[in-house]
Amino acid sequence: KKVVLAYSGGLDTSVILKWLQEEYGCEVVTFTADIGQGEELEPARAKAEAAGVKEIYIDDLREEFVRDFVYPMFRANAVYEGEYLLGTSIARPLIAKRLIEIAAETGADAISHGATGKGNDQVRFELGAYALNPEIKIIAPWREWDLLSREKLMAYAAKHGIGVEQKREGNKSPYSMDANLLHISYEGYDLEDPWTQPGDAMWRWSVSPEQAPDQATEIELTFERGDITAIDGKAMSPAEVLAELNRIGGANGIGRADIVENRYVGMKSRGCYETPGGTIMLKAHRAIESLTLDREAAHLKDELMPRYASLVYNGYWFAPERRMLQAAIDESQQVVNGVVRLKLYKGNVSVLGRRSETNSLFDESIATFEEDAGAYDQTDATGFIRLNSLRLRVAGRKRG
Ligand code: ARG
Ligand code: SIN
Repeated sequence: KKVVLAYSGGLDTSVILKWLQEEYGCEVVTFTADIGQGEELEPARAKAEAAGVKEIYIDDLREEFVRDFVYPMFRANAVYEGEYLLGTSIARPLIAKRLIEIAAETGADAISHGATGKGNDQVRFELGAYALNPEIKIIAPWREWDLLSREKLMAYAAKHGIGVEQKREGNKSPYSMDANLLHISYEGYDLEDPWTQPGDAMWRWSVSPEQAPDQATEIELTFERGDITAIDGKAMSPAEVLAELNRIGGANGIGRADIVENRYVGMKSRGCYETPGGTIMLKAHRAIESLTLDREAAHLKDELMPRYASLVYNGYWFAPERRMLQAAIDESQQVVNGVVRLKLYKGNVSVLGRRSETNSLFDESIATFEEDAGAYDQTDATGFIRLNSLRLRVAGRKRG
């Protein structure tokens, strides 16, 4: 009996670690990932060792996260309910995948996670895990134990000598947070009243637009097949691109969102999100697509997008319908090559220019308001409008 636990080293997962050892009497393997949350990972190793864990996995997954999850999702321009850039949603399938891989490597028959029974994350972890290993057993302590209140959890921690050092760590936030290279999310505490505005101290990555510099920042982003491969002409890896865009975006007050969203499990939930790099990527990607994508291909992408976003939000990354949509989206991106020039200013991203040497469909000789070379004959528009209006005229006559 062996279980792989997604372990952050924080109070909750430290309690879970102990609880699994006590309650299930099983050997626990810990897995801690660097997905760009900006926290030291070595303390997690020390804590796991102190708890008697023999197999400790600490992985740097930053490049895989952006290359294989964030970038494919941004090719779809995915946005959930008009505003949420899916920063937490897209990281969960990667964690699920690593949990399953580590279970195979260590001969574990179960995995465990610290997501509560009320949220989306449990669904995402578990749908992902079952898709990758139908036989896996999943232990979700929050759905089993009776430590449901903060006091009970603290009491359990105190009884087992956990949490003393956790509490001493600085930088404590009252919010339930989740961070990775794509975003930070904040939920709970004073956000539980959707009318209450969070204090400015909540935000970690971005300045407020009011505090942002009076001088605008201009950047040029190079796209290859729908992915950003360079900033200002300098080639960068996917994780480097996102880290750099987070930095520049945050400095210009870009990417804050405060929303009420519909969780898959049925409840409404209020959350705040900081997604500076993602906000820039989305704007730039739409700009380069506007120049290079065929109209009907672009419109079809837009129709599929909400469906794709729901699949990611609801945890169906490894489902056949997501893979199917991804194949279609990736096919469309063959032509999405070029450069977008942007201005970042006090919370806004504006497009200053876009060009594509190889794939621009924009034809100045056709679009011009001046006399054109003959590719477009204005008299053709008469018949175009006459036929398209036929049914409108027929119906109009009926109405009398
Ligand atoms: N509501 C967001 C989502 O469902 C963020 C979830 C944050 N998760 C967390 N464990 N704090 O994607
Ligand atoms: C949790 O409940 O563990 C976090 C929130 C969510 O998953 O939606």
